[in-house]
Amino acid sequence: MESMGDLKRTHKCNDLTEANVGDEVILMGWVLRRRDHGGVIFIDLRDRQGLTQIVFNPELNAEVHDKAHGLRSEWVLAIRGTVSARPDGMKNNKLATGGIEVMVDELRILNKSKTPPFPLDEDTEVSDNLRLQYRYIDLRRQGMADNLIQRHRAAQAIRTYLNAEDFLEIETPMLTRSTPEGARDYLVPSRVSGGKFYALPQSPQLFKQLLMVAGMDRYYQITKCFRDEDLRADRQPEFTQIDMELSFIDEEDMYRIGEELMVGLFKSVLDEDIATPFPRMTYDESMRRFGCDRPDVRFGLELTDLSDIVKDASFKVFRTVVGKGGVVKAINAKECATFSRKDLDKLTEYAGNYGAKGLAWVKMKADGEWQSPIAKFFKDEERAKMTAALGAEEGDLLLFQADEPSVVNQVLSEIRLELGRRLGFVKKDEFSFLWITDFPLVEYDSDAKRYTAVHHPFTLPAEEDIPLLDTNPGKVKSRAYDMVLNGSEIGGGSLRIHQKELQDKVFKALAIDEEEANDKFGFLLKALELGAPPHGGMAFGFDRLMMMMLGKDSIRDVIAFPKTQKASCPLTEAPASVKRKQLTELSLRPDWDEK
Ligand code: AMO
Ligand code: AMP
Repeated sequence: MESMGDLKRTHKCNDLTEANVGDEVILMGWVLRRRDHGGVIFIDLRDRQGLTQIVFNPELNAEVHDKAHGLRSEWVLAIRGTVSARPDGMKNNKLATGGIEVMVDELRILNKSKTPPFPLDEDTEVSDNLRLQYRYIDLRRQGMADNLIQRHRAAQAIRTYLNAEDFLEIETPMLTRSTPEGARDYLVPSRVSGGKFYALPQSPQLFKQLLMVAGMDRYYQITKCFRDEDLRADRQPEFTQIDMELSFIDEEDMYRIGEELMVGLFKSVLDEDIATPFPRMTYDESMRRFGCDRPDVRFGLELTDLSDIVKDASFKVFRTVVGKGGVVKAINAKECATFSRKDLDKLTEYAGNYGAKGLAWVKMKADGEWQSPIAKFFKDEERAKMTAALGAEEGDLLLFQADEPSVVNQVLSEIRLELGRRLGFVKKDEFSFLWITDFPLVEYDSDAKRYTAVHHPFTLPAEEDIPLLDTNPGKVKSRAYDMVLNGSEIGGGSLRIHQKELQDKVFKALAIDEEEANDKFGFLLKALELGAPPHGGMAFGFDRLMMMMLGKDSIRDVIAFPKTQKASCPLTEAPASVKRKQLTELSLRPDWDEK
């Protein structure tokens, strides 16, 4: 093996163009591909930036050419050579350096490599586990490197915007107490205070509010948050938030800042112009039209409530559901009457995954005629009313769901998305932003038999609803807002309660007694009595945002070292066992591994 010695890199592997022809250059990088063309050896030398074709010609330098015979994939090289124009017909317009090649005069092998665990070209399918186990190899692939480069650019664009808006970047602790985001905590045992635990923050929520009490006025942080929850394609146990909090503001300030942040971000990373202001939709409208609070509004297929029309129909399923306070809603899948029996069975099975007990369907024939197993259960008038309510025409497919509102909404919202994907309505390069507003403050938890906060217990209720806190908390709206992009919640926040009296009232509505409140959030409550200013804020899921921006299907593609669905890391093999001595030092009883 050789050293770099006196060789100093002069260019990166995507720098050289025909303007450099004749220059002597020094490049360093990895062997991506090697082609032996009857004597002349061509190598694609790769670094983070790109590729350069380097050439070993026995007629120009026999000794170096001889040495190049031994080179293999992923060996690390330093080369000195002369830039030469590629012969006509050999140019590659797709490559930044496609017009040139470098004729090598000196080759130093800086390191060898075993055969990599998988090939580095983009087209090879590699299992997720293997990719994560050898993440440093996976990240050498251009597509993956590009994701990290874009993520870096995004972070810089965010900082540039927020700095110009007079925000201060302030760090908050990782070893802290439980925060109120509602997921399970990751706990860290304390050695010094045996039997006590820190919690890793689910968000910096309480600290950022304290920074407002401290007079910092505008805070932001791009920071890790930890939540021990069930993982999905757009969730990670540790993820990054773009977190902010501001004093003396209202919703309009938050909307402006959130929108300007997105505009700057999309412009600088994707050169994409995002239109503002973003549309706004109340939570109630979103639930009614789309069945969820993060609707993908790139396409229609909206939900229509038919409960009133079918409440007395002879179709028992529908009639009894409405009678028991449930709802019947339907989607008009335009021009989908061509779906086969098998398609419909598959869709019914899909609906079943979300709790559907069935999925009634109607194929629209000419003159408003219904082809459907349930057609016979309705009077002409009822069918005509439903047809009109759904705007159904010949060739359409109608899909019905009858159940409790939460089931109907979830099932039809998922069916809608599935149809949207299937019918090609979901385009990855189309960005559709939306604010969801006027969330309920609390929701009833029928297991715990009490109200719980929809966002967190520090969310400010709508002023006119405050009297309802004592009488009908379920009807109280909050001053919370979410930002939705293409059907994904990319951010959320609220104005906060800054006065102790109101906070006490909300705790009462949530059946959190003084002792519990003081135990969990006493330090914040104390601060509210020491001159807390009106304040509010929001947090964006940075990973999720990058995933959407870059059109990736998995959040893992935009994180350097992500975790698997089981919250493990195949690279480091974390979580891992620890020595018995470490457990006892932490005052943990080491007997669980023996049971
Ligand atoms: P919230 O809990 O809505 O709000 O989180 C803010 C945003 O973080 C992202 N997110 C996640 N991303 C990846 N993996 C996860 N497990 C995960 N969980 C959440 C989402 C979400 O919109 N403190 C409040 C914000 C505030 O009120 O200011 C909070 O944390 O994109
Ligand atoms: P049945 O009378 O149970 O054979 O149901 C007739 C049709 O209604 C079938 O297509 C079922 O899939 C559908 N169906 C049954 N229950 C429901 C429901 N809760 N919501 C919507 N469709 C249903």
